[in-house]
Amino acid sequence: MCGIFAYTGKSGKDAGKVLLQGLVSLEYRGYDSAGIFTPESGSIKTPGAVAELKKKVPKKFNGKSGIAHLRWATHGEPTKVNAHPHSDCQGEIWIVHNGIIENFKELKDKLTKAGHTFVSESDTEVFAHLVEEKLKKAKSAKGGFEKAAVAALKEIRGTYGMAIQYKGEPEKLIAARMGSPIVLGVGKHERFIASDASPILPHTKKVIFLEDGEVAVITPDTHTVYKLEGSRVSRKPEEIEWTAQQAQKGGYEHFMLKEIMEGAEVIENTLRGRLIPEKGLAKLGGLEGVAKQLAKIDRIIIVACGTAYYAGLVGEYMLEEHAGIPVEVELGSEFRYRKPVINEKTVVLAISQSGETLDTLEAVREGKRRGALTLGIVNTVGSTIARETDAGVYNHAGPEIGVASTKAFVSQLVALTLLTVFLGRQRGMQPSEGKKIARELKALPAKAQKIFKGKGAIEKLARKYSEARDFLFIGRKYNYPVAFEGALKLKEISYIHAEGCGAGEMKHGPLAMIDEKFPTMALAPSDSVYEKVFSAIQQIKARKGPVVAIATEGNKEIGKVADDVLYVPETLEMLMPILSVIPLQLFAYYFARNKGYNVDRPRNLAKSVTVE
Ligand code: AGP
Ligand code: GLU
Repeated sequence: MCGIFAYTGKSGKDAGKVLLQGLVSLEYRGYDSAGIFTPESGSIKTPGAVAELKKKVPKKFNGKSGIAHLRWATHGEPTKVNAHPHSDCQGEIWIVHNGIIENFKELKDKLTKAGHTFVSESDTEVFAHLVEEKLKKAKSAKGGFEKAAVAALKEIRGTYGMAIQYKGEPEKLIAARMGSPIVLGVGKHERFIASDASPILPHTKKVIFLEDGEVAVITPDTHTVYKLEGSRVSRKPEEIEWTAQQAQKGGYEHFMLKEIMEGAEVIENTLRGRLIPEKGLAKLGGLEGVAKQLAKIDRIIIVACGTAYYAGLVGEYMLEEHAGIPVEVELGSEFRYRKPVINEKTVVLAISQSGETLDTLEAVREGKRRGALTLGIVNTVGSTIARETDAGVYNHAGPEIGVASTKAFVSQLVALTLLTVFLGRQRGMQPSEGKKIARELKALPAKAQKIFKGKGAIEKLARKYSEARDFLFIGRKYNYPVAFEGALKLKEISYIHAEGCGAGEMKHGPLAMIDEKFPTMALAPSDSVYEKVFSAIQQIKARKGPVVAIATEGNKEIGKVADDVLYVPETLEMLMPILSVIPLQLFAYYFARNKGYNVDRPRNLAKSVTVE
């Protein structure tokens, strides 16, 4: 996810200034590097955020049109050369892109053979050269630029929200959308392209939201939208009354809710290009370099903190059950004070959304010092943990703004599943099992969407229990870590006492806390330990404790015992946490929002804990 902003106008405004101002409102979308291009003044790019770019853009940098970008890197470190805009060999075609071009390697090889020279490691640069190649063929016919851009779009696979500019037709801009948002702004003698409406709103409230598979061609006084296969789209601009802030949140009240609701898309983005369903294999480019070594490892130590730690606990069940590898999960802050017994057959696997959590980073360093192979599952490209581990898997979940980690947790579980298949298939996991997991992974986004549709019932439940001062979360096996994650979500944004507990552990003490004022959230999907959780619920009910059960669709029996039931669709036992966590995320969000708390920035906490 990144920020795109493009402008063409003859209203007397200076494109350089319009673009730089617009990038500021897009910074929440990620900004490890930034860049700008206008046909009149060329391109300027820099690592860092808009402030860094502004320092480098001279006063005389101007123009009547141009494109600009804030990068959230997926392919290639966040360096100046990998920053956008990217151009073709001649510096004629310029592009800014949000998303991932999955087949960029094969296209890059083909274009290199055709004589193109590349300067960056980014997947995006390939597209500029592809348009150049198509333009050579289309140059003769009128409208060569547009035809070349459409032909290139038909040849790429993956996700894109992009703006393309050709120096030969400087006032024309082309936008295209497939999986990453693009909004057009319709002003007086000016038009805009952006990742969301926030940079457009200071100029016009008339916008057109592109849909997947659509292309738009804009000039200062015209905009044409059509489907990639050619049919025209007539969509009238709509007037939006959002503030710029509301536009950044896609109309949601908080980033946290927006990020929870992105869960389905995040599953797709984490999986993108990484499954070979017909062979039941996982393709993890970031591990190719150590694949041989991984085939010989005999132990994994997962190190992480907070939400990432609970994801690691789910990973422990997955890896042991489906890859047959012994796993232990350690809190980063504890691991480094132990004397862990490690050798070259041990993997230390760090899980971290920010890639900057010092407790986790120091644990990686400790593992390295003791000779372990270090891996990372990290969301922030180029972050310290990503750079200091020997290899790893990027989440591709996009920036997570809310302090409470939600979409990153979902992505971490998907990445751990891919790792389980990757390692399992090296160790005798049958192709049929790999295929079954791959099939079910691909079905998850639609199942997550079904849960989102029921968010109203979850909000109602949050109101029903709004007076609770204590909340217990119980689960078993794969849902044991989810119970702790659900408790963490609730306590960190609503400040009440909430704790996770193994459902089997109730009778060893926690049951003493239960009374009619102490509700329990029970994770009770129809899996191999359902009966055990069901009896824990009965123990609680026998003490008059209120129970909200998270159950599998179609389970009629549980409603007779639990006070409230939230249903989730059926899936494989190992994948259930990816779905069962969603109602808990929504419950915590509504519980805290209904109290009027600052859900995105809860008191006493920071998004990235870079201190010990
Ligand atoms: C979770 O909602 C919290 N924000 C916190 O526990 C977080 O998961 C922890 O600090 C680890 O952060 P990381 O994933 O960036 O390493
Ligand atoms: N995949 C592109 C890159 O890594 C675009 C990333 C983004 O969405 O910012 O440069």
